[in-house]
Amino acid sequence: MRIGILTGGGDCPGLNAVIRATVRTVEIEHGGTVVGFKDAWRGVVNDDWEPLTSESCRGLLPRGGTVLGTSRDQPYKMDNGVEAVRRAVDRHGLDAIVAIGGEGSMGVVKDLHRDGIPVVGVPKTIDNDIGLTEMTFGFQTAVQICTFSIDRLHTTAESHDRVLVVEVMGRHVGHIATWAGLAGGAAVTLVPEEPFDIEHVASLISGRHQRGHWSSIVVVAEGAVPVEGTMPMPEIPVDVYGHQVLGGIGHRVAAEIERRTGIESRTTVLGHVQRGGTPVAFDRVLATRFGVAAVDAVADGALGQMVALQAGEITRVAVAEAVGHLKMVEPAMLRTSAIFQVPYDRT
Ligand code: F6P
Repeated sequence: MRIGILTGGGDCPGLNAVIRATVRTVEIEHGGTVVGFKDAWRGVVNDDWEPLTSESCRGLLPRGGTVLGTSRDQPYKMDNGVEAVRRAVDRHGLDAIVAIGGEGSMGVVKDLHRDGIPVVGVPKTIDNDIGLTEMTFGFQTAVQICTFSIDRLHTTAESHDRVLVVEVMGRHVGHIATWAGLAGGAAVTLVPEEPFDIEHVASLISGRHQRGHWSSIVVVAEGAVPVEGTMPMPEIPVDVYGHQVLGGIGHRVAAEIERRTGIESRTTVLGHVQRGGTPVAFDRVLATRFGVAAVDAVADGALGQMVALQAGEITRVAVAEAVGHLKMVEPAMLRTSAIFQVPYDRT
């Protein structure tokens, strides 16, 4: 067996653990070899790669980021990109390319499979928004980093009788915000799934402080949006790949809360600190299981499939069915989150 592997899109704790698991499984169970392409599809198209072995993967399990590098380049947007991928598969004699990536990368896997290129997908994103897998690695690490940060922000918020707004990642969905808000005891959590009314948020905070609370934590997903017409919002810029560059909603929410309640408010934007560094144990294990399962998929000829976690078990789904619909925060989770926010807070 000979497999190519790449990491695409934003990095995420656990990517290296998948690479290591893939290499080890290929070597130990199939006596095969692995080609590591650099900087996602750019490395496939430009034939920029390195051989990966168990020896070269030593120490990767706890290491954040990706040793292969990553980019958002993709073959359908590069000159003769798809043909270059086809040539790379032939040149290296690959049974398949294992592509580890988010929603965008899985879309590429879907299209390459349709075009007859042997590919298997491994879902990754700290946002946890890929369909048909109940969890992606990196998410639990991000939640843990947010929770540790919120724990710290509580004590400084209490000392200064302030509102502290914490902006977390979550471009289209509020999984990180919801989990971190629950784990960190936020008074208010704002997610993209439910547009917020800033006047309502301000009055909830006011009421809470009138009932004797001296501080409040407000968790805001970067993609949270106000109900139309309730709060001025600037035009959101896009990057070279057409993705919105989010960030800044936390500052606007804090300014509006302070203006409307008179309570001093500050903002902490956690940003890329949520994506950096070592993965928590859950993510290391999930990433490892995904790596093993990706090799199994190649061995079984299950091309065009994406490995997934469903009901605690590792499974496979057709990547074409997983893409195109983001996994939103489930209503039951939103309800649980709501119970622990104001106005349910009667203490
Ligand atoms: O998709 C993962 C993610 O971390 C989002 O939460 C965030 O909006 C985006 O990537 C940031 O992308 P970049 O690193 O390109 O700024």
